[in-house]
Amino acid sequence: MVEPNALRILVVNGKGGCGKTTIATNLAAAHARQGHGVALIDHDSQASSSHWLNQRAPDQPSIHLVQAHQRTAMYATRSFQQRLPSRISRIIIDTPSVVGDAELDHLLRGVSAIVVPVLPSSLDIRAADRFLQQLGNHRLLRSRPVPVATIANRVRPNTLGHTRLKEFLAQLDVPTIATFRDRAIYMRLADQGKGVVDVPEDREAAAELPQWQALLAWIDATDTRHRASPARATHHARSAYRQPA
Ligand SMILES: Nc1ncnc2c1ncn2[C@@H]1O[C@H](COP(=O)(O)OP(=O)(O)OP(=O)(O)O)[C@@H](O)[C@H]1O
Ligand SMILES: [Mg+2]
Repeated sequence: MVEPNALRILVVNGKGGCGKTTIATNLAAAHARQGHGVALIDHDSQASSSHWLNQRAPDQPSIHLVQAHQRTAMYATRSFQQRLPSRISRIIIDTPSVVGDAELDHLLRGVSAIVVPVLPSSLDIRAADRFLQQLGNHRLLRSRPVPVATIANRVRPNTLGHTRLKEFLAQLDVPTIATFRDRAIYMRLADQGKGVVDVPEDREAAAELPQWQALLAWIDATDTRHRASPARATHHARSAYRQPA
């Protein structure tokens, strides 16, 4: 069962390989460790989130998998939500690399917040710029705006790519909520059903934790804004995005 105040967090970007699954799975692990009932919805037919969750050991805080890429009527109508086992307060949605207009409409319905991972390459920056503009102009978000944030992913500090990405993100009208470094631990954990929060003894994982805390705090603030005043949860998605210089 989904709790009335459950948050639906959409991890999306119209570009492959930018870290959607890495962020969705780590987010699911982090919320589960916080004690939330978590559902991870895998919309990608590559089923990477499903693979990750299938590797998760039973002694880790549990996460409920919804394989929405199996396009049955149950997922189209969302009746699967009635079948979720425990009290679900966080729903994390992993999306495919290519999202058509109809699918984007479907994905945006009922979301509480949207996070867009962006990699430092110029191709990724251009794709993210286009996608953010598409999002900013989307009729569903114009009629019911929700908070949007970017995440700088696979960053190597003090490189040209890092500088370029920072400049691009700084001139957007949406906040950059976390910066994740390019670290081998993310690739290792992808095959273990764990997030960096599950291995704080690992030096690389520990170094990433403050950024995950920043992302979690932003999501929790979404919760507060929702309950305090739905209209205030909105202004980030309203603005027109500027092109990078
Ligand atoms: N911060 C990071 N540091 C190192 N490797 C990373 C990081 N983020 C993601 N990766 C690796 O980059 C690859 C692509 O990441 P991921 O699968 O999360 O992207 P995606 O956006 O879900 O891709 P797709 O569009 O194919 O679904 C994976 O091998 C993943 O382990
Ligand atoms: Mg993926």
